[in-house]
Amino acid sequence: MIELGVNIDHVATVRQARRTYEPDPVIAAGLAEQGGADGITFHLREDRRHIQARDVELLVKTVAVKTNLEIACDPATVQIACQSRPTWALLVPEGRQEVTTEGGLDVRNDGGRIMEAVQRLRGVGIKVSLFLDPEPDQITAAAKLKVDAVELHTGPYALACCDDPGLELERLRVAGALVCQRGMRLHAGHGLNYVNVRPVAAIRGMRELNIGHAIVSRAVMVGMRQAVAEMRRLLDLVQPV
Ligand code: PXP
Repeated sequence: MIELGVNIDHVATVRQARRTYEPDPVIAAGLAEQGGADGITFHLREDRRHIQARDVELLVKTVAVKTNLEIACDPATVQIACQSRPTWALLVPEGRQEVTTEGGLDVRNDGGRIMEAVQRLRGVGIKVSLFLDPEPDQITAAAKLKVDAVELHTGPYALACCDDPGLELERLRVAGALVCQRGMRLHAGHGLNYVNVRPVAAIRGMRELNIGHAIVSRAVMVGMRQAVAEMRRLLDLVQPV
């Protein structure tokens, strides 16, 4: 069975739009668990644009399934991860101007910094996965760092889906086979949605998919009717005073 990691960052994005207390990603995580999530993923970005330190603390304490904290390799953030102790840490590159994670880590050229983060995290018992483009050289370099998993970047595949995803899917298959051959868990994520997810889920050896934007988007849509009906009912019950 393929595990589903639900990324709840964009619940926090809506909250931060008003700097208020709702919607609370911690409550969303509980509901995601009830829906069948095998894990909850959240990205503590340096600019704190969505998930806050308070969320990380509460999520790790309250989520019953595994937690997957996505972070950059900088020492201060790695320190927060080491203190909060999620089940997994997912290391990603982070750019200040990017709207979302734009590419995989460059393990070949940035191996020292990544290795330091991996060792600190594994040293306190946190499992580590690296977010990588489906490039054999990067996977070979990752295997040398003794990480537990590789999450393949499916963004280019998702973009190609509007046209012809065949080539990108084949890159994912080849890279996925190498991840498994090197003894690491195979994960994938980014840009996956209700239309394009199945061919990625069918890749041999795939263990886990991390999906955020599509699920949060759908949650808004399937919940809109009820949310409006509840407000309508409230207004209908008001008596003039
Ligand atoms: N994996 C990684 C490393 C990501 O950065 C993200 C986005 O936060 C996801 C998976 C989930 O991507 P999406 O929100 O497009 O489903």
